[in-house]
Amino acid sequence: MRLDKFLANSGIGTRKEVKAILKSGKIKVNEKIVKDGKMQIDEIKDDIKMEGEKITYKPFVYVMMNKPSGIISATEDGKHKTVVDLLCEKYKNYKVFPVGRLDIDTEGLILLTNDGILAHNLLSPKKHVDKKYYVELKEPLTSEKKKILENGIKLEENFVTKEAKVEIIEKTELKSVFITISEGKFHQVKRMFKFIGNEVLYLKRVKMGKLLLPEKLKLGEYRELTEEEMKLILD
Ligand code: URA
Repeated sequence: MRLDKFLANSGIGTRKEVKAILKSGKIKVNEKIVKDGKMQIDEIKDDIKMEGEKITYKPFVYVMMNKPSGIISATEDGKHKTVVDLLCEKYKNYKVFPVGRLDIDTEGLILLTNDGILAHNLLSPKKHVDKKYYVELKEPLTSEKKKILENGIKLEENFVTKEAKVEIIEKTELKSVFITISEGKFHQVKRMFKFIGNEVLYLKRVKMGKLLLPEKLKLGEYRELTEEEMKLILD
């Protein structure tokens, strides 16, 4: 692999920034300063350092974010800020994209990565990855309506929702619930509650597969997944 590609893929900077870093003599390959980005290196065997610090090859990054309301889950948008706009340069350089979509007014867990295969596996309808949402409702949810939600609703001509799990939070006068669905149709949760004559006032994704949104991660904050969390999403 070319040295400049290796450096860019390791999150050091854009191609242009990498060129400048090389020119300034900060990069050593096997203890020798290298300024030519075209040099071929072995990303596993060669020892590559920037200002004395070893750079380990990392082609993919996995970042979780607590998406705030008002932010679009896309890479770019002419009008609104996107989840990618919230990231620092390091992650932008990896060209990450959000895995799936949350509505502009939905908060909570969103994963960003440049690993297309993982994204496909998490989103593929065949994989049935569960998504758990915390929902605040306009009206209390009766147990009758809960059953309707859980058993499946015909939202479109050829689409009946799969079995869902609904947990009513009693102390909120039945106006807050958790709902877990395994699909991801456009506005699905809001449409399911609308179908039973209710309205979603607030929506937040709290879990995707086995990956939980940590309570410590505040709105707009993000961080790379830990090794443990990586195991959970690759499972
Ligand atoms: N369902 C919705 O209605 N909106 C979301 O953002 C996610 C699930």
